[in-house]
Amino acid sequence: MQEPPHLATLAVHAGNDVDPGTRAIRRPIVAANSYALPDDPSQLSWSGTDTALYTRNGGANQGWLEDKLAALDGGEAAVALASGVGALHAVLFTFLEAGDHVVCSDVTYVATYRLLTELLPRKYGITATLVDSSDPEAVRAAIRPRTRLVHVETPANPTTRITDVEAVAAIAHDAGALLSVDATFATPVLQRPLALGADLVVHSLTKYVNGHDDAMGGAVIGRADLVERIRAEAMVNAGATISPFNAWLIMRGAVTLPLRMRRHCASALELAEFLEADPRVAYVAYPGLASHPQHALAARTLDGGFGGMLAFAVRGDTAAQNRFVADLRVITSAVSLGHDESLIVHVAADDERARFYPPEFRRWGHLRFSVGLEDPRDLVADLTQALDRL
Ligand SMILES: Cc1ncc(COP(=O)(O)O)c(C=O)c1O
Repeated sequence: MQEPPHLATLAVHAGNDVDPGTRAIRRPIVAANSYALPDDPSQLSWSGTDTALYTRNGGANQGWLEDKLAALDGGEAAVALASGVGALHAVLFTFLEAGDHVVCSDVTYVATYRLLTELLPRKYGITATLVDSSDPEAVRAAIRPRTRLVHVETPANPTTRITDVEAVAAIAHDAGALLSVDATFATPVLQRPLALGADLVVHSLTKYVNGHDDAMGGAVIGRADLVERIRAEAMVNAGATISPFNAWLIMRGAVTLPLRMRRHCASALELAEFLEADPRVAYVAYPGLASHPQHALAARTLDGGFGGMLAFAVRGDTAAQNRFVADLRVITSAVSLGHDESLIVHVAADDERARFYPPEFRRWGHLRFSVGLEDPRDLVADLTQALDRL
């Protein structure tokens, strides 16, 4: 029997096919908002998602992208949404009700933190306990009778802390809760949370999956019945549907994801080692370094590299960190990550979430560095000249 296709093959072919209308071998952009109704529409649900109807209920480009994403993550189904936050919100909106409780990684993307600590508690009486999810026992201890969801981000933004998805999945399931994993940093190339027991994987497609800083999107991948609930409840009625053009762009970007991740990982490891060896650098957080607290877990659970994200600081105060960033010539100071171009963001030591960060982050602040696809020699040269000016 033939082996199932490998990831790079799925990245090229999944979701793509010959367009029956034109015989083009690429899916076209279908920009229409509406689709022709059947002769007798009386049985249609206007909130339905199973018949081509209206782009907010699901469009052609969205569907093709979802086929690719489901294949890459090894899930039964995927739903693509307008942004990573749209996808995270869709999970919370669909699976939580007033009075429910969530256990969540204490270090997550800021909107996850804002939703779970401010907005959902105030608006809907949903409560959350934030824990260091790299310690499965901390997750277990935080479970309550009304815990419906455990949500972890691994590797975590910005600390790169790693959570043992398999261990946390067992704890969530013992409690009758779902486990969702924000795997934006790792992408399906490095980590397959569904195979480790997670129920749902969330990605910001804006980052590595698209990879070119020109389209926003998000996705949730998992069991078909769970994904269908997200589609029917959150997508149609909260409305964060992805645009056809963005779905098309992300589908194109995803083709080269396995190739790009290899370069991101190799360059990030090289730069992390370079920075760690420099006495002017205060610390480096990167799962590929032996100094990373979960290096062994990362080596066991990430496949093919340790990602393209690292955090570090130079020895100096806030002004020194800012000056260092301003002196960079190739690396751009801008938010976001996972793009072709290297990006760096300085976050000061007194950030509102600093209490969740390791001591070195709290002492020096941190520079979150998304290592891009440039030649690593040029990135080393750029960092060197900026260090020399300190
Ligand atoms: C880990 C993680 N999840 C989710 C998001 C949100 O994604 P988006 O900006 O596409 O809404 C981000 C954005 O930086 C992120 O880093």
